[in-house]
Amino acid sequence: MSRARTALRVAPPLETSGPFAADVIAGLTAKPKRLPPKYFYDAAGSALFERITHLDEYYPTRSELALLTEHASAIAAQFPPGCALVEFGSGSSRKARSLLGATASVQAYVPVDICGEFLLQDAAQLPRDFPHLAIYPVATDFTQLAELPAEIASLPRAGFFPGSTIGNFEPHEAARFLRHAGSLLGAGAVFAVGVDLAKAPDILYRAYNDAEGVTAKFNLNLLARINRELGADFDPAAFEHHAFYNAQRSRIEMHLASTRRQKVRICGATIEFRAGETIHTENSYKYTIESFRALAHGSGWSPVAVWSDGLFSVHALRRSDAEQTADE
Ligand code: TRP
Repeated sequence: MSRARTALRVAPPLETSGPFAADVIAGLTAKPKRLPPKYFYDAAGSALFERITHLDEYYPTRSELALLTEHASAIAAQFPPGCALVEFGSGSSRKARSLLGATASVQAYVPVDICGEFLLQDAAQLPRDFPHLAIYPVATDFTQLAELPAEIASLPRAGFFPGSTIGNFEPHEAARFLRHAGSLLGAGAVFAVGVDLAKAPDILYRAYNDAEGVTAKFNLNLLARINRELGADFDPAAFEHHAFYNAQRSRIEMHLASTRRQKVRICGATIEFRAGETIHTENSYKYTIESFRALAHGSGWSPVAVWSDGLFSVHALRRSDAEQTADE
């Protein structure tokens, strides 16, 4: 079968003036150049990310799953009885499964993910394993979620934010998100948050520079996506994955570095690259247990418990209602 014919039939129309185009142009005309990480997660990117989570070098998923499995009952015991569990950035829901399997006190599950295809595929499989659970998937960027499904209006809420996705925000954005989650989840809510810990730079380095090059593919898929959806002419072979630990700022930085001087056409604009110039695609901040607790505390949440294996941490937070009411 000819590729061109397949592409003609299945390719979505080029989107040259929507929010994706606007964000890409704004990011690539900024100095230094950058792109918003949420655009990593199209179907191809979500599948590559799923592969990252299985890599030997990428310890966070393994550590977190082990913590969630080992301490599932203790974690779920913090949730309000009969609650709805709202997961921000649920991906494949693998982690929620370990919590859901350990408790009867969650009545409803609300997976929220920007990748609709991934979300629906997975939500369709949950009823088989959890026949009594009501499931209300929401396909949206979880930072933009303004209200919860009406069906869970009368239930108390628990939030779940695993994967150290909180580390992909700038600290001030992380604080804003925690506050937003607090008003969304409501009085008395509990929030379980997975947070990667600061540690030896070589371990961190390897986690974002795997030998098989899957993380590099994941990073480079962003350029391929811009080509596919915006009709740009990036040559992904002329860019390299650069990830390194910035100890001073306690974060992994991911960049795409141009291997040569080049020009790229996107939606009528021409973007010029110097040899070695980078597009900053993501940060992954690493916290200590104390530094994360301080951040949570300053954002309307009281730390109530933490589980850690020394590499990764899972925090249980309870909404500090006295501090938060002014906000709502
Ligand atoms: N939030 C996780 C982290 O920062 C997962 C993640 C997001 C990630 N983007 C990534 C992992 C890119 C590897 C590469 O670790």
